[in-house]
Order: sequence, then structure tokens, then C-alpha cells
Amino acid sequence: MRKILVTSALPYANGSIHIGHLVEYIQTDIWVRFQKMQGNECYYVCANDAHGTPIMLRAQKEGITPEELIARVHTEHNQDFQDFSVQFDNFYSTHSDENRHFSSLIYKGLQAGGHIIQKTIKQAYDPEKQMFLPDRFIQGECPRCGAKDQYGDNCEVCGATYSPTDLKNPVSALSGATPIEKESEHYFVNLADFENMLKEWTKSGSLQPEVSNKLGEWFTDGLQAWDISRDAPYFGFQIPDTENKYFYVWLDAPIGYMASFKNLCDQKGLNFDEFWAEDSEAELYHFIGKDIIYFHALFWPAMLTGGKFRKPTSIFAHGFLTVDGYKMSKSRGTFITARCYLDHLNPEYLRYYYAAKLTPNVDDIDLNLEDFIQRVNSDLVGKVVNIASRCAGFITKRFGGMLADALPDVALYDSFIEAGAEIAQDYEARNYNKAMRGIMALADKANQYIDENKPWVIAKEEGKDAELQAICTQGLNLFRVLMSYLTPILPPMSQAAENFLNAPMVWQPEALLNHKIEKFKPLMKRIEQAQVDKMVDASKEDLAATQPAAAPKKPANDNPPIADVIAYDDFAKVDLRIAKIVNAEHVEGADKLLQLTLDIGEENTRNVFAGIKDAYAPETLIGRYTVMVANLAPRKMRFGISEGMVLAAGPGKKDLWILSPDEGAQPGMKVK
Ligand code: 2FM
Ligand code: ZN
Repeated sequence: MRKILVTSALPYANGSIHIGHLVEYIQTDIWVRFQKMQGNECYYVCANDAHGTPIMLRAQKEGITPEELIARVHTEHNQDFQDFSVQFDNFYSTHSDENRHFSSLIYKGLQAGGHIIQKTIKQAYDPEKQMFLPDRFIQGECPRCGAKDQYGDNCEVCGATYSPTDLKNPVSALSGATPIEKESEHYFVNLADFENMLKEWTKSGSLQPEVSNKLGEWFTDGLQAWDISRDAPYFGFQIPDTENKYFYVWLDAPIGYMASFKNLCDQKGLNFDEFWAEDSEAELYHFIGKDIIYFHALFWPAMLTGGKFRKPTSIFAHGFLTVDGYKMSKSRGTFITARCYLDHLNPEYLRYYYAAKLTPNVDDIDLNLEDFIQRVNSDLVGKVVNIASRCAGFITKRFGGMLADALPDVALYDSFIEAGAEIAQDYEARNYNKAMRGIMALADKANQYIDENKPWVIAKEEGKDAELQAICTQGLNLFRVLMSYLTPILPPMSQAAENFLNAPMVWQPEALLNHKIEKFKPLMKRIEQAQVDKMVDASKEDLAATQPAAAPKKPANDNPPIADVIAYDDFAKVDLRIAKIVNAEHVEGADKLLQLTLDIGEENTRNVFAGIKDAYAPETLIGRYTVMVANLAPRKMRFGISEGMVLAAGPGKKDLWILSPDEGAQPGMKVK
């Protein structure tokens, strides 16, 4: 029996859980449930990430203490997780005694090893609020292009990166005051001390190959010392032997994994050291998003080494979620909170859909709402539940709920059991997509068996009772094997199937023979389009006027459905013009964009960023005529302002065509 400790990233204690977060919690929960089902000793811990400036400021704004804010959000998160069947063995908080203890222990270990250095640095300071300003709370003009209202350390308009202190005319986003520069002493972990260990560890097979390759690039630039202190006022743990220095939230966040587990050990009488001591033989896995690899694959192993603890067995990074091919967006109604989803839909639908999409790599996954409805209805309702509903009625009505005492097709049953070995390997490798394909192929086989044996026909024939009972017994036993393989994905449905079959859901089960089952109740309803529409409507917030539109993250590969009809008056507002492409260039750092200069007559030119790079070499476009939307509000994009849109059609990538008017059309002509 393996001893395994598993974590998911700790959600911040100042925001709601949304369907993007759920990719990870569902991915991890499935893996943990699978491990437990295999009989391994596996624990799944998590916590709220409770420290940091945003949480402190949010509590101030609400007129409550940070502790009150954390407690409220904790209850909300807990309920969301429970309702999605994400079953932590412990969901704790980083603002805990255990976490204070381990943070201080690790810090002291680093200090004793000579890995903590002190440096005086200059930072922006808000003289009104009397606090240092994290990058994201400074606003100003870009030092390169002069764009106004830029935050932090990069310009959304021209893409320049700089130090926030380089912003022109900076103001504090908290008070509007002009920040001053102020010096202060900071504490750093000297990561370079761990370079050899990290180089070795990141190549040891603990990371996915693409992650390990990426990390290789960071070593070439040399490892910078990591700033782990923040000045008061800060909501966090005070650094031992200092007056007004606090641990930066990212120092104590991963230590929160240990702290949560320690708290579990104290509740359950488990041995903490067995999992965390330097020579531990237990397995330790962290599931995370690809955006926080740096913290987990470099800082965290260094901290663990400094504190004389073991390092993770593996870090499993996943990609981001897109919805219908785009980043989640409040204006489109695709920024869907866990609660809003639960108000409209069964959580098991999403668990299944994510499982069907998840692979072991870091690619983004797309929740295509149309495909979601179709897939869940066809796989779960149409295939799996259907097997039981086609057989159960006969057993109940004709045989008093008793299954036959032998299977008519033992070889078929055995083939379902044998398939469990490969499905188990796929779960273990986090290749849920492949596991689901395997399970659905079995479901097809089970339905085919029923189609061929036609119990509904046999039921009407005289003297065929034994045959009818045997066929339905076969069908229900195949159903049970499938449900046992689906148990990590669909815990409530698996429980309902267990109640119906009066037998536990175990991996590769023995056939149920001469066994009494309960009356069948429908196990899952179909998803109706209207439920999804209502959820999207409820998530919609009209932010179009106040926020720059989210740039498309990843265009969907398949054709989008034809959009809803719009009123003629609305269409008439769109000003379509003939445009001459007078210049076209690549955009440095952009994967999909070309920068076009469009002449729309009367010396009027427009700068437009168009996602057509895969389809056109820029030089082939210069001099061509096309059609553009000329009255679209300018959009701030990462690389500059886009002043309109070029019309193009096609599924995307190479297959995209810009519209070309016939000869004679002149720049600026209005399209009628
Ligand atoms: O990125 C985040 O949402 C962080 N709260 C994750 C922390 S994970 C761990 F290191 F604590
Ligand atoms: Zn700029």
C-alpha cells in the first residue's frame, strides 16, 4: 500500500471559486479518489491562502478584520467544494498556528544555513496611506509610449516592461497620492546557493518534460535572490527577530500544505514525519496551474531543503480554462462562479466534461458549451445510464429484484474486468481523457450486447424467463463495472448506483449473482440548453464600457454556431468600409497578430491588430483591399491600440480569409 499526500493550490481568501479553479480541484479530487479506491493510503489537503496586501485592503474596504473576511470566505469555499464533491481530508487556512510554526522553522533553517541575505532596496511608498505599494497598486504613464493608466511593470498598450518606479506621473491606486521612493531593508533567500540541487531535481523526472525544459531557460539567466519580506502594514506572519517585517505571502503559502497536513495529523493521530522528513518514503504530489510553476519548482524545493524537509515526488501542472475558445469573460457571461454553476447545473456534468478533456500535459482546456451538453447527454445519459434503465425494470417486475445465478456471457464480463488494468494506468498517469474513451468504448459494447439480445422482445415470449433474467443480469453487471470505473469522476452517481445495486463500487468487481437489487431510479437527467443559457445570462455583467475587451486566448478550432439574430437597426450601426492595406507587419511577441495600417480614404489611416498571422505573410497583404469595421470603439491591446477590425472568415489558423472587394472599390467607401 502506497502512502501518498496530495495537494491542490491554495485559493486566495478574498475571491470566489470559479469554473477555472475547478479544473484543478476536480483533476486532483479524481486522482485522489482513484488512489483511495486502489486501497492506497492517500490524503488530500488544501487551505485558504489568507495573507497579503489585497486581503488586508479588501477587509479594510469592507470595514471588517482580515480574520473576519477569511472566516467568511472559508465557509463559502468549503460549501462550493463540498457541492462539487471535491473531498479534502483537510481544508485549512494559512493563517494558522501550525503555519506560523513551520514558516518560522523553515526561515530559521535557511538562516542557519547562511541562505538569508539582507539588502536595502528602494520602493514606491504611498505617503498618505503610509505603506509601500505593491506593483499592481501603482498607476501611471508608460515610460515608452506614454499610454495612460498603466499598472505595475508592463504596458498593456506597447508591451514595454519596466520597473514600476519608471512609470511617468505615477499615482497610488489606493489614495491617488503621488508615491515617493523610500528605502527599506528586505530579506532575501539566496537561491543561487541551491542551484546545483535545483538543476538536478528539475531534471530528475519530477516535472513534466515541457516544464523541465522551460525551467532550463531560467538557469541560463542565473537564479536571482528571492525577496521574502514585506514591510508593515501587512497581513501575514512577522519575521522572527524583526520589528516590522513580515513574510511575503508566497513564503508561507506552500508551507500551508504542510500546516494543513499537520493539523490533519493532530486530528487523526497520523505520523507527520513519515510524510515530510528528509528521508520520507511517502509520495508527495502538488497539483498546480502552469502560472505558478516558478514558485513550486524553484522556491519551494529550496525552502524545503533549507528547512531539512523532503522535496515533492512530482509537481503536476495543468493549463488554463477557456470557454468557447476564449478566456473567461464577465461580459460574455463565461466567468462562471462555482455557485452560479451549482444554481443551474448538476456538478457531475462538469466533473465528467473536465475529465473527458484532461490529459497529463499543460495544454489549456476548452469548455465548449455546445459540446458540453452534447457530450454529457450522449455519454452519460445516452450510453451509461441507458444500460441500467434498459435492464432494471424487468428484474424488478418479473423477478422480484433478483439477479440470475450465472452470467450468460462470461467472456464479455471478463473483458470488462481486464480493461480495468489499462483504465487504472490512465488514471494514474492523469490521462483521464484516455480513461474516459476506454470506459465509453466499453459502454458501447454493453449497449451492443443489449441491442443484440433484445430483452424487450424476449420479455414478450413464452417460456423465456430464464433467458430474460440472464440477459438483464449480464447488462446490470456490465453497468456496475462501468460505474465502478467512473466512481472517481461521478461520486454521487456512483453512490446512487451502489444503493440501486445494493453492492459496493469496487475496482474490477466480482459479478453479482443471485443477488437482490433495489428499484431503479433515474440516475442522471439530460442537460437542457435552457439551463446553460440561464447560467450564462446570470453570469453576464455588462463591463464592455468600462473594461478593455479580453483578448481571445485561443480560437476554437471548430466553427462557431451561427449567432443569434440581431435587429436590423443594430446591424445598421456597424460602419463597414473598404480599406486599403498600406502596411502590414509582424508584432514582436505576438503569436497570432499582424499589425495593419489601413487607409480608409481622406487621409484617414487606422492601426488594426488582426489575428491572421498564420494565414497571411504580411508582405502579401500590402496593397490589397479589404473590408473593415470602422466604428468599433478603440481597444487597448497588449501591443497597442486597435482602431477597428478587419473582416475575415474561416475556422482559424491557416484557414482564414480576409474579405476582398471586387476591382473598383475605393478606400473609405461604405459597405451597403
Ligand atoms: O495563485 C494562487 O492562487 C495562490 N493562492 C496559490 C498558492 S499555492 C501554494 F503555494 F500555496
Ligand atoms: Zn507603452
